[in-house]
Amino acid sequence: MKKILIVNGPNLNFLGRREPEIYGSDTLCDIIEYTKRECASLNVEISAFQSNHEGEIIDMLYRAYDESYDGIVINAGAYSHYSIAIRDAISSIRIPCVEVHLSNIHAREEFRHNSVISAVCKGMICGFGKQVYPLGVRVLCEI
Ligand code: DQA
Repeated sequence: MKKILIVNGPNLNFLGRREPEIYGSDTLCDIIEYTKRECASLNVEISAFQSNHEGEIIDMLYRAYDESYDGIVINAGAYSHYSIAIRDAISSIRIPCVEVHLSNIHAREEFRHNSVISAVCKGMICGFGKQVYPLGVRVLCEI
């Protein structure tokens, strides 16, 4: 059975109440439960982690290495656009990562168009709301 970790970064704890016209009305908890339901037929164990702190996200990525996770779905939130430290952690651990964003970052403000973590991830899925999470898990299962 593959072990997949879902990592969520800053402000994603506030989903459900945060700009619902952009991010939808589901809470992060709802989205994780939805992802587990959608992936129930895959041979996969899903764990989830959220932090508003860059260092805690980095620590979690190294824990994923120590605990031999097979893949990571990461929505690093705003850190995606500037955290070289998270990018370096992703490339250090060499666990396949799929970057996800609920919104289409290319259709929003220009500062969101670039992600510094994309190049060290297997790929990026954005713009499909909560569906990006099960899609990310599915891709990792097939790698
Ligand atoms: C986001 C997009 C980011 O630009 C933003 O800072 C977020 C959420 C998304 O899921 O669409 O916090 O990662």
